[in-house]
Formats: sequence, structure tokens, C-alpha cells
Amino acid sequence: MNSIAIELRKGVHWVGVKDWGRRMFDGLIPLPHGTSYNAYLVQGEKTALVDTVNPGFEGELLAKIGAVTDPAALDYVVMNHAEPDHAGAIPIVLAASPKSRLVLTAKGADMAARYYRVPRERMQVVADGETLDLGGKTLRFVDAPFLHWPETMFTYVVEDRILFPCDFFGSHTAAGVYDDEVADLAVRAQMYFGEIMMPFRKAGERALKKLADLPIALIAPSHGPLWRHPERILDLYRKWTAGETAAKAVVAYVSMWGSTERLVRIVAETLLGEGIRVAVHDLAQADVGDLAGDLVDARALVLGAPTVLGGLHPAAFNAANLIRALKPPLKYAALLSSYGWGGGAARQASEVLGPTGIEVVGAVEIHGSPAAEAEAQAAALASILATRIRS
Ligand code: FEO
Repeated sequence: MNSIAIELRKGVHWVGVKDWGRRMFDGLIPLPHGTSYNAYLVQGEKTALVDTVNPGFEGELLAKIGAVTDPAALDYVVMNHAEPDHAGAIPIVLAASPKSRLVLTAKGADMAARYYRVPRERMQVVADGETLDLGGKTLRFVDAPFLHWPETMFTYVVEDRILFPCDFFGSHTAAGVYDDEVADLAVRAQMYFGEIMMPFRKAGERALKKLADLPIALIAPSHGPLWRHPERILDLYRKWTAGETAAKAVVAYVSMWGSTERLVRIVAETLLGEGIRVAVHDLAQADVGDLAGDLVDARALVLGAPTVLGGLHPAAFNAANLIRALKPPLKYAALLSSYGWGGGAARQASEVLGPTGIEVVGAVEIHGSPAAEAEAQAAALASILATRIRS
């Protein structure tokens, strides 16, 4: 059993798990680089475990705690978040540490009872700003609801200026220990933000304001590498939660016989010629994480889809629904479509995207394969879109 604990500071150890082989999360998010479930041991005169690990790795977690101290000696287990990838091992950890108490928010208490059958007498509910004196180490709890569940909170070690924000500031990769050890970490973090945190940008902004006065030397999230250069991720999160966009368009399309794709190619290359960054995703094989990451800072969407059975091609319907749910800061959209004998895709795309507030600047919907006139219309639409993006 792997029992390697990594010392971060005197009395603070990483005791998490690297899940190198995991390839899917929530049945939705691809994990091409695996992920990690980071848990941390904080030792003063008393000992606290901050978060646990995904079910199936309980033995490895206990072995790593055991490399530092007897698991039975744990005084507290902090549950920053109730989702099973961080809280799933709680029943086994509590069973292994009979005197420990589970520290959590009031909403977290309801979830711990419902999900993990934790008896109320084992719980210690903490309020925003409350501290817990471990003797030489002080934990301060920061309420951070809806990042990304209602019960979420952060834990801060006052003496070491370490922030444990659970999912916030995370990334899905098993690589590395620290941020400077993973070359593409900003890309991974942006994908993760798009997948998990983008629908909760307002809650994220509120949390960042609460953190503004807190000196932070190390951000230790519960997925991915630890940020020993915390300003790197704080700067990115300030932009992403604020919805700052670039002169960039996401072109998401699916094509059956190439007609829609011909329009898409004209629009994409016209945008490029106008100095707009373009991220093209073929929805027949697109990676949801790549798409979500590109949506974090894109100003416009080009949705291309043929009509199937009177509406959007199902791949485009799914993508449009996902975009609506993820709430990206898109401002403009253009629609491209083709049909064999009856349209409907562009109409349905407008219906699905309508509640988002994204302004649809135009549509090209053609019957059959695109003639020169339709190609000219697509190029003209792209020029209009480029002008709006630049504005
Ligand atoms: Fe990583 Fe929301 O769990």
C-alpha cells in the first residue's frame, strides 16, 4: 500500500491520492490526465484531517495518515465539501478514529447525515470566520457557498497562511505536486473552471472578495497541483469569475454530409482573417472539457448544425443545452445550418439559447448544399460577428 505523505510545512502534510487512470468524472467530464483527491493533515497539539478521498482509496488514505501519525489519534476531520470524491471516505475515517469529530457547515451537516449516515453527535458545525485551535496551529473556516455545492467552505491555516479551498482553484490532472511543475496547468485549470465553477461565477467573485484580506502563501486545492505561486491562479480566477472575455469565438458544429461544415469553414477562416481567435469543436467527437475551457473567455459562439427530424442535430442540441447550463460569458452568437427538405435547426437553436441573453446576430440556413450565394452570406455574417466581437 502506498504510504507516501508529502510534508508541505512543518506539521502540514499532503496525504491525498493520485488517480492516474481515471478517465471520466460525473459521467460527463473527460479526464485525459487523470486527477487527484488531495487530503491534508494539519498537526498542532491536536490533529485535523482536511477532506478525504474518493471511495475505493480509503486504505491508501489511512496508510498515508499512518506514515505521519496513528489514524486513531485524529481529533478532527474537516469536510469542506460533501461530494463523494472528497467526503466518500468519511465513514471509514471516522470509524478508524473513534474520538474524532467531523467539522463542517450547517448545510454540510445535513448532507453528511444524508449521504454518509454520520451521527449528529460526531459533528461540529462551524460558522463563517470561526476558528479551531489545534495548539500551535489554528484553522479558520470561510463560508464559500455554491463553490460548487450549497454547503462548501474553505479552511485556512493561520500560522502557515495555507488555504484549503477544496474544489475552488482546482484542476483535473494527477501530474505534479506544485503549480510550476506542470507546464499546461493554466490550460487544465481553465478547463476545470469551465466545467465546474463557471455556472457559479457570482459566488466565486464573492469568495474572492472574502479572501482579499487574507495573506495566502499556498493554495492547496483538493484536485490537481498546489499553487505555491498563489497570485497565478488568483489572477486567473479574478478574470474568469468577472466574465472577462477575449476577442475569441467558439465554433461548435456538427455536420452530416458536409454542407454545414462548408459554412463553418468559411465563417471560421473569415473570423481568423479579421483577427479574431477561433476555437473550433466538431461536436461529433468534441471533448466536453476542451469546449468548456474555451467557453470561459470566449466572446462569441458560432453554432453549426443540420436539421434532423425538424430540429437541431442531437449533438448540437446537447451542446446548446450544456452551454445554457454552464452560463459562459458569451455575448454574441451566429447560427449556421442546412437541411434536406424542411428546416428547424436554427429555430430550435434560438429557442434553446434564448434564455441565456446571448445576442444572436444572424443566421444562415440553407436548403441543400451551399451555393456561392450562401457562402457569401456566411462570409458576410462572419464579418458582422467580427465587428461585434471587436466592439
Ligand atoms: Fe471535487 Fe465537487 O467535488
